[in-house]
Amino acid sequence: MHRSDSQLDAEQTVTTSAPHVLHLTRGGTSVVLDLDASPGPSIVHWGAALTGSTPATLRGTAIAARAQRVSGGLDATPALSLVPVAADGWFGTPGLEGHRDGNGVSIRLATVDVQAAEHRASIALADAEADLAVRVELRLGPSGLLHQRLTVRNTGTTPYTLQSLLTTFPLPADATEVFDTTGHHLRERAPQRRQLGIGSHVRESRRGRTGADSAILLAAGRPGFGFERGRVHGIHVAWSGNHRVVAERSVTGDALLAGGELLLPGEVVLAPGAAYSSPWVIGSWGDGLTALSHRFHDEWRARPQHPRRPRPVTLNTWEAVYFDHSLERLTALADAAVSVGVERFVLDDGWFEGRRDDTAGLGDWTVDREVWAHGLHPLIDHVRALGMEFGLWVEPEMVNPDSELARRHPDWILRGRMSLPPSGRQQQVLDLSIPDAYAHIAARLHALLDEYPIAYLKWDHNRDLVDAAGGPAGAARVHAHTLAVYRLLDELKAAHPGLEIESCASGGARVDLGILDRTDRVWTSDSLDPLERLENQKHTGLVVPPEMLGMHLTSPVVHSSGRTVSLGLSGAVALFGHFGIEWDLTTVDERKREEIAEWVALAKRLRPLIASGRVVHVDGTEPGIDVRGVVAADTASAVFTVVQTASSAAYPAGRVRMPGLDPARVYRVQVRMRDGEDAGQSPLEWAGAEIVMTGLELAEAGVRPPVQRPQQAMVLEITAAG
Ligand code: GLA
Repeated sequence: MHRSDSQLDAEQTVTTSAPHVLHLTRGGTSVVLDLDASPGPSIVHWGAALTGSTPATLRGTAIAARAQRVSGGLDATPALSLVPVAADGWFGTPGLEGHRDGNGVSIRLATVDVQAAEHRASIALADAEADLAVRVELRLGPSGLLHQRLTVRNTGTTPYTLQSLLTTFPLPADATEVFDTTGHHLRERAPQRRQLGIGSHVRESRRGRTGADSAILLAAGRPGFGFERGRVHGIHVAWSGNHRVVAERSVTGDALLAGGELLLPGEVVLAPGAAYSSPWVIGSWGDGLTALSHRFHDEWRARPQHPRRPRPVTLNTWEAVYFDHSLERLTALADAAVSVGVERFVLDDGWFEGRRDDTAGLGDWTVDREVWAHGLHPLIDHVRALGMEFGLWVEPEMVNPDSELARRHPDWILRGRMSLPPSGRQQQVLDLSIPDAYAHIAARLHALLDEYPIAYLKWDHNRDLVDAAGGPAGAARVHAHTLAVYRLLDELKAAHPGLEIESCASGGARVDLGILDRTDRVWTSDSLDPLERLENQKHTGLVVPPEMLGMHLTSPVVHSSGRTVSLGLSGAVALFGHFGIEWDLTTVDERKREEIAEWVALAKRLRPLIASGRVVHVDGTEPGIDVRGVVAADTASAVFTVVQTASSAAYPAGRVRMPGLDPARVYRVQVRMRDGEDAGQSPLEWAGAEIVMTGLELAEAGVRPPVQRPQQAMVLEITAAG
């Protein structure tokens, strides 16, 4: 075995002891690997930074982690290795499975090389009998996120069918409660919890896209962990195709989280010499989900491509006009938009050839001359003359059978048999792994971006992939299609500097850090209902920083739920993200426009704080009240909302806490916006008073919220005094 000890010694953040233990530490996190564990390298600690450890104590920690032999068991109990495999006597979910035409199922990996530098390690494993080489890459990000990726190479002379490859993260023994998200269209990322007993909790997406029901985070922690407290570890798979995450506890005392791409039968067959790399699987931990989420936010914001300029207040035309496009109607909407302070005007579905409703046209990405006699120029010129940017909706992976594209190239449609897959929204999916199909779609998008000054694409994906294969009796294509989409996004970004892209998929069905590494925001949900959005935004925000979450003011009667809501509620709930409007503003009167303009002005004033601050959620608030906030990174200011989701048990409600500020600092607390002030409701006793409180007083004693009716909201601004 070769170890690069000189490199190890050169870096303060990587220490080896004797040299069988590797210690990576960064961002308040330590990862300790026992390189001599049997049957292979094993993570013996992932979590709190082990300050004060010495090579001797780290070695002690590794040795003390080794499992005893037990009656009725194997003569040596295998450690949970980086890539646990069945032939070593690992009876849990294997990290790697595959075969050579039904044979060659045994895998036992030996360590052949360990490289470590800075905050990374790369461990080469190989099985000379099975002719496989595996590389495990580990990287600790600046905020302490643990990234892991596996690469498998076929070193044999026959094809190797990769069946499953999962990256493994160990859990502490007391992580006995598991948490993840599920959902559906209009209700993405709803949380669920259960006890993690012996066995597995498995969540899969077989939808060919991330999925409205996908687990954005699979976490396990001490029973009762919340946002503010309770040790919790979680993983996210940065991938937009099929994937699987597993939380598992075994009778041998091991517990783990594992994740990776879900491979369809025969989807990855490695030719001799060929390799497959898994998506990056990203692990975070914290005392409470808020701390866990901050590691994701901090690291995502530190990327060079992170959108840094103030997020432009956006008006999206969808719920304002649907398919009813005309230059007159849309210029009037643009005029109304600019009058309330909108900065980006996005023309949604319905502008291209044959697209008068959602049954036809997808695939024909040229402007419909029947509606737009002079192309989109007159509208875009008008929008830009008003000082706004222009954005355009596209759905490049999709095709309606009723389109010129489908009539000319029926062979470009993903299908596994002669008949087409069941349709979704009357549409099918293009196989972008076909070079000609890819080139055609790429050329159409480049042509649009070359002809028009388009600052932003809303990139939609309105159906799940079903029977997604490369033609009748063909091979599965979800993996190849997903990579092609990534390539197309990267290519467009490179060719059109400054272009921003939103990931939308029937709202929030493609929200993951794979797509968000190459796009600028997500359309968080098609539901604009503020009460539904509270839950959705809270749990999408476990991984995604707020400035990447599209949040729009709704029209007073929410289209998706039929609920009537106030502007105050809608505004307060849309404040903690990338703010926008989805509403036909040509129908609102002058007074309402002024109120909307006030919300837009507040969102603009607060957006630097939203885009750099830390989102906090409050545990234990009484049912019927939601309290959340964003605290500035330097803790000099914060904004909180108190939303009455239903009538509260106490009347008036008890005090609500506002955590996350500097405990010792003194702050001024001011009510900024209050729903129902005009409705003659009882005044907030302290609203007009000069209130100063320390961060500790705000976090521990809290403030008495106003008496609010269900569906009313209050915005509080907190600023350091003096
Ligand atoms: C999806 C999106 C909507 C809208 C429509 C257009 O449903 O989520 O926001 O763009 O498609 O067809």
